[in-house]
Amino acid sequence: MAFSVIGFSVIQLMGEYLFTQRTRDDQRIAENLAEAFSDYLVAFDAQSMYDAALETARAQQSRVLVLDSLCVVQVDTASEMNGQRFITTEIDGVLKGSEGGYGFYEAGSGSAGNYWLRAALNGFSGANAMTGVYASPIQNGDNLLGVLVYISQVQEIYENLRDIQIKILTWMALVALAVLVINALVLRTITRPIGELNEGISRMSKGDLSARVRVRGKNEFAGLARAFNSMSERLEQLDASRSQFVSNASHELKTPLSTMKILIETLMYQDPMDPAMTKEFLTDVNKEIDRLNGIVSDLLTLVNIDSGMKLNLQELDIGGLLQEQVKRLSPLARENGIELDCQVKESLEVNGDALKLQQVVYNIIDNAIKYTPRGGEVHCTLNRAGKKAIIRVQDTGVGIPEADLPHIFDRFYRVDKARSRETGGTGLGLSIVKQFVLLHGGNITAKSAPGKGSTFIIELPLAEKKKES
Ligand SMILES: Nc1ncnc2c1ncn2[C@@H]1O[C@H](COP(=O)(O)OP(=O)(O)O)[C@@H](O)[C@H]1O
Ligand SMILES: [Mg+2]
Repeated sequence: MAFSVIGFSVIQLMGEYLFTQRTRDDQRIAENLAEAFSDYLVAFDAQSMYDAALETARAQQSRVLVLDSLCVVQVDTASEMNGQRFITTEIDGVLKGSEGGYGFYEAGSGSAGNYWLRAALNGFSGANAMTGVYASPIQNGDNLLGVLVYISQVQEIYENLRDIQIKILTWMALVALAVLVINALVLRTITRPIGELNEGISRMSKGDLSARVRVRGKNEFAGLARAFNSMSERLEQLDASRSQFVSNASHELKTPLSTMKILIETLMYQDPMDPAMTKEFLTDVNKEIDRLNGIVSDLLTLVNIDSGMKLNLQELDIGGLLQEQVKRLSPLARENGIELDCQVKESLEVNGDALKLQQVVYNIIDNAIKYTPRGGEVHCTLNRAGKKAIIRVQDTGVGIPEADLPHIFDRFYRVDKARSRETGGTGLGLSIVKQFVLLHGGNITAKSAPGKGSTFIIELPLAEKKKES
């Protein structure tokens, strides 16, 4: 649109400029002639007048007519209309007192309505050629002696203008075409990926998490598509792990429940009740309730972690914490015939949540005791490595097969299901431990040699020493 406005304005301005220029030139020539003719007429010098008219007509390729005050042609440089009466709007205007007038006509067409005008033009220019007619008064003082009619070709101007018009129109068409092509390309690169993305999103919002979009090229849309795909992939994984989690959790909860049901039913149908047996069964039921309680609180902890758990941070003496937990577990170790010891080389401070770090240390040592046969050893150490506190819990237990090692921190993962259940494990302990350590900005790893023992290594960032003011 901008281009066509500019185009049409240029055509308009060019036309105006060219025609004004021509009108001014013609007017000047005609007025000069009219002035000269006024002198010749007064002096009855027809020859000079005719010569001057002819000279101008030849030089300018125009036609000069001199009319007397009754509009009868006295001089015609084309020698066709001598003695004829000739009148046009412009001549009429001059007779009525105007200072001159210009008109454009197309020779041989309806626009030159007057018969004589048509004759005058046809004899001069080719058919359909544009012609300018300028009429100027020939005056002697206030007396109108006659009218000078100056007829000139303006076809050339028209043709020039038409050339420019055609050029501008051609360029406009080319630009329009280019715009269409670019538009089509832009549509392909913009709307198509957006459409696909849109489709993917609506599929996802309808619950189809397997929705993926095609990644094309390397532009921003490809980036967007890639981001969408990784998002939906992550969502799909999360969804799958959530279902897995729910199904595992239900299974874990069901096991103690069914055990309790069997125990209680057995008791119910016992007649008469044997007090010793009843006591034993109730003890078992009580154990199962403890187990259930353990599972439920582990599950709650995990739910809390998932929904963005906040730590209650304070400066802790991590060596003291480790020793405390070792002391807490000593009776269990003794019961299981395991030698448990602890070595703290230096006192180290970490910024941590006391309850959570206690749980971490407790769980790791508890596992070490649980998965170590009678007569084994569990050694705990605390060391410093750069800006980290390193807690190492080493046992001489059953160890963990290499294939299971990468999974032991997964939820519900247990290497030996039967053995683990026997020891009251749920497979949630290590996953909680790992989450807690990560929340503290630390890390936990495990090394193991099956049959020989395992080592769990916890790294925690040391508290920044406060600068003394
Ligand atoms: N010190 C260890 N020695 C051998 N295996 C271990 C040890 N600690 C953990 N595991 C293995 O990792 C699994 C996951 O541990 P955890 O998450 O604490 O679950 P559990 O409730 O069974 O203790 C355990 O079932 C066990 O197979
Ligand atoms: Mg455990």
